Amino acid sequence: MLNGKRILLIVAGGIAAFKSLELVRRLRGRGASVRCVLTEAGAKFVTPLSLQALTEDRVYSDMFSLTDESEMGHIQLSRDADLLVVAPATANLLARMAGGLADDLAATVLLATDKPVLAAPAMNVRMWTHAATVANVETLKKRGVSFIGPNDGAMACNEYGPGRMSEPEEIVVAIENLLSVDKPLAGKKALVTSGPTREAIDPVRYISNHSSGKQGHAIAAALARLGAEVTLVSGPVTVPDPSGVKVVKIDSADQMLAACLAAGAIDVVVCAAAVADWRVSHPSDAKIKKKPGAAPPALELAPNPDILATLSRSSPQRPRLVVGFAAETENLIANAVDKRQRKGCDWILANDVSPAVGTFGGERNTVHLVSAQGVEDWPTLAKDEVAARLADRIARHLGQPRPAQAAE
Ligand code: C5P
Repeated sequence: MLNGKRILLIVAGGIAAFKSLELVRRLRGRGASVRCVLTEAGAKFVTPLSLQALTEDRVYSDMFSLTDESEMGHIQLSRDADLLVVAPATANLLARMAGGLADDLAATVLLATDKPVLAAPAMNVRMWTHAATVANVETLKKRGVSFIGPNDGAMACNEYGPGRMSEPEEIVVAIENLLSVDKPLAGKKALVTSGPTREAIDPVRYISNHSSGKQGHAIAAALARLGAEVTLVSGPVTVPDPSGVKVVKIDSADQMLAACLAAGAIDVVVCAAAVADWRVSHPSDAKIKKKPGAAPPALELAPNPDILATLSRSSPQRPRLVVGFAAETENLIANAVDKRQRKGCDWILANDVSPAVGTFGGERNTVHLVSAQGVEDWPTLAKDEVAARLADRIARHLGQPRPAQAAE
């Protein structure tokens, strides 16, 4: 979390400026306060009003405005921040920073500051690889400016290569690292399962479900951000591997269980995967052929191992904290309370996966934390905010002495 941290975000004029709005939202969601300086070119891409609404603060643009200077001078803007973040950092602003110019409020604040500076470059690939930009970046790095990105990818200008601004979440992680946010899970091992499993019918067909892996992957990333050594056992998903996490890719529930057991002694496990309850008893080695006029084949199913229950009951190395999910379409809380007891886990995050709610594949989730202490309702949050909150709770739990030790 970034509780109490003050970020001065400088938004320069690039198409990636739209991502800065999301960056503000995420930083504030992590507890930081954000104040914005918007360059004249930046204001062509995002409006001061959007930034003002998201920061709940006024937006600073004009160095020669009497009100701006009397209420909050350029020196004060920098003094009041723990970190300056330039996102997007355009080729032009990087050049002005490297040259020590002070020709607008953004450049002046950057010249006047003694606070750490993080730049998230965004520009056309040729501008990024141009000798002038390469030299400017080199100069700025030597002076202690930190950089995040740019990433490779398709660009708004129909070219491909390095130049895309890092995603808001990557920038948040870089900010947390720069501000040496506490790593309360340092030295702890975490295991997370995520995504669906695929149970083969034959080499071509399978039984699976709609899990996207977004929630499980976000949890793995959030635990890693707090310093845990994380193994993520993932079924087939299209979301990218989180950075700083060991990812083991599997297909079936059997493979998921084997990968979890191979992870060895762990402190906390979060089973977020939507594991298929049944597999086909005898998958065919060859593609099952349609025979004209013949009845469709009957699939005989066998139950899959319950990974959550297996890890909850593992001994002698039971993880100190075992967390499961209850994805339900009816009687959410009652089913989750029952599931916690049946599976022997410590916490259950209950969420409604009725199609109307849009949890599967969606960006947001409404969860209820069911533990021995009762039921705690969380507000509807973005999946990575749910993940950050859960990681925080896990860190607090593991930070407490074990009950047996407490009694000693
Ligand atoms: O029984 P149900 O599928 O509703 O339980 C959901 C919880 O159990 C989730 O945490 C899921 O990851 C876990 N689970 C598992 N192995 C299974 C089935 C579910 O780990 N075979």
